[in-house]
Order: sequence, then C-alpha cells, then structure tokens
Amino acid sequence: MQLDEITKILVSEDEVTKTVKRLGAEITAHYGQLERELMVIGLLKGSFIFMADLVRQIRIPLVVDFLTLSSYGDGTVSSGDVKVVMDLDSSIEGRDVLLVEDIVDTGRTFCKVIRMMRNRNPRTLSTCTFLNKPAARMVDTQIDFCGVDIPDEFAVGYGLDYAQNYRHLPYVGVLKPA
Ligand code: PRP
Repeated sequence: MQLDEITKILVSEDEVTKTVKRLGAEITAHYGQLERELMVIGLLKGSFIFMADLVRQIRIPLVVDFLTLSSYGDGTVSSGDVKVVMDLDSSIEGRDVLLVEDIVDTGRTFCKVIRMMRNRNPRTLSTCTFLNKPAARMVDTQIDFCGVDIPDEFAVGYGLDYAQNYRHLPYVGVLKPA
C-alpha cells in the first residue's frame, strides 16, 4: 500500500477531532438523562475507529455493541447487496439505541439496518454518521447526527477502506484513480 496514492484530503486530522467532539456534545445534549444506558451500535468494519473516538466524547452512561454488514466487497461501487455477516450480542428491545456508521453513501446499508433494528422494537432509535455523501444517495435514509458532507468521490481513511487497505489513516482522503 502506497500512501502517495492519496491525491487530496477531504477531512483533515484536525477536522476529524473537531467533528467528533461536536457530535459527542450533540448526542450528549440530545439524550440528557436516560433510565438505562444508551446502546451505541457500530456497523463494522468501517465504523470501528469513529466509534472508539465518538463514545469517548459522549458524557452519559452507555454500552456498545457491533453489527457486521457488507455491501461493497472489494470493489469501489456499491453492489446494492447488503449482507448480515455478524449480528448483535444483545437484545435492543425497549432500549435507547444509537446506530453509528462511518459513511452513508447510496444509503442502502443504513436504510436496511434501520429497518432491521426498528423491527426489534427499541424504545428510541437515532442514527449518526461520520461522513455523508448526499450526491450518491439512492435511498432516502434517516440521519440524526451528521459529521461531514463530502463530494461523490471514493474516500478512504478513518475506518474507510479500499480492498481492506487505508482504514488506519488518521484523516479521510481520496485515492488516485487506478
Ligand atoms: C461501507 C460503509 C457503509 C456502507 C455505505 O461498508 O462502511 O456501511 O459501505 O454504503 P451505502 O450507503 O452505499 O450502502 P462496506 O460494505 O464497504 O463494509 P466495511 O464497513 O467493512 O468497510
């Protein structure tokens, strides 16, 4: 993997930090005092870095769980075929749930997971994404807490991959075309 394959930065490290802090403050203010802990559910693998940073900026009691879905395989274009690879450990029935994504692109993945989670009867369900790509949207989807809107380019870094590479970059960048 060559880091010089990154042609431009979409979200700098500094902007990542500021955005995560802002989202944490918004989420904290929104929930105020809950009877039970907030359940923060991350969609793997993409959200793992954002989740880790975000939960440390939320100042109310919470628990975490993860769900693994897959829609892209190793390509750069969404197949539209969203699969559940690993389900949650615990029930969300009657709980306050916050779903966390790294990016909402076509919206297919988030739309499917929101529908799936609603069928499990949480008390409330909110959603948060670090990146949002409005120009690529094919399915209208609920986003309650939104980090940064980005253009319709293939973004990598801060959890986002190309063929499983680049997830560890501390910023979000665009890959040079092959
Ligand atoms: C990516 C990303 C989102 C989804 C967004 O996941 O993490 O879950 O695609 O695309 P959409 O809005 O067009 O559905 P991917 O399937 O690549 O798996 P990953 O999280 O393991 O990277």
